[in-house]
Amino acid sequence: MATGAERERLAAAIGRIKGWLSDEEAEALFDRAKACTGRGAIVEIGSYRGRATIALALGSQAGSRVPVYAVDLHHEEQFRRFDRNVTRAGVGELITPLAGRSQELADEVREPLELLFIDGAQDADEFREDFERWVPKLVDGGWLAVQDATDSQGARPVADTIVLRSRHFRRARFVPDSMLVAQKVAGNTSLDRLRNAWVLAVKSIYAGAAKLEEPPEWLSGRFARGARRVLARL
Ligand SMILES: C[S@@+](CC[C@H](N)C(=O)[O-])C[C@H]1O[C@@H](n2cnc3c(N)ncnc32)[C@H](O)[C@@H]1O
Repeated sequence: MATGAERERLAAAIGRIKGWLSDEEAEALFDRAKACTGRGAIVEIGSYRGRATIALALGSQAGSRVPVYAVDLHHEEQFRRFDRNVTRAGVGELITPLAGRSQELADEVREPLELLFIDGAQDADEFREDFERWVPKLVDGGWLAVQDATDSQGARPVADTIVLRSRHFRRARFVPDSMLVAQKVAGNTSLDRLRNAWVLAVKSIYAGAAKLEEPPEWLSGRFARGARRVLARL
C-alpha cells in the first residue's frame, strides 16, 4: 500500500494531467503496481496523456520496478503530451509505449502479465476483444483492473457477466468512480463468488446513485471523500 509520502508524490505528479481517473482509482493502480513482484509485466491499454500510466509506473518504481507497457493509438499530438508528462514525472525509463490498435498488439508483448489495466476502446465489441486477447496473458494470481466498469457501453457487460460471475476471479473490489479490480486464479471458491456478487451489488448501487439528479449526501456531500475511500478498500 502507498505510504503518505508516496500518495502525495502521486497526487502531485498527476494533478495537472487531463484524464478521467479519480484519486482513489489512481491509488488503487499505484498499490497494485507496487505489489507486482516481477512474475510478469504491467500493461495499460489506453494511455491518453499518461495519468494512469504514471500511477502504474510510480507504483512499479516504489516496488520491484516491473516494466510498464503503455498501449494506445498514440496519435501525434496526444503522444507528445504523453511523453512530456511521463518524462516530467521521472518514470520514463520504466515505460515502453506501444502504438496501434490494442486488439492487434497482444502478441507484441512476449512476456506474461502480472497486472493488466484496460481503459482503451469504449465500443462493446472492441472491449471484449481486448479482454479476450489480453486477459489470457495474465499469470495465475495476476491482477486485472477495468475502467468504466459502471458504464453500460463497453466494460460493464464484461465486468458483470464475465469477471464477477466467473470461476476465475476473486478478491474483487469496486473503486469509485468506475473501476473494477480482481485477481485472476485457476479456480475460485464459493466464498470468492459470494464476495464477487457483493461487489457487483455495491457497484450497481453506486452507479445508480451517481446517475440520480440529486445524488445522495454520501456521494456528493462533505463526507463523500471518506465514503469513497472506504468503498475503495472494501
Ligand atoms: C479514456 S482514454 C484513457 C485514459 C487514460 N488511461 C488516463 O488515465 O488518462 C482512452 C484511450 O484509449 C485509446 N484507444 C481507443 N481505442 C483504442 C484502440 N482500439 N487501441 C488502442 N488504444 C485505443 C484512445 O486513444 C485514448 O487515449
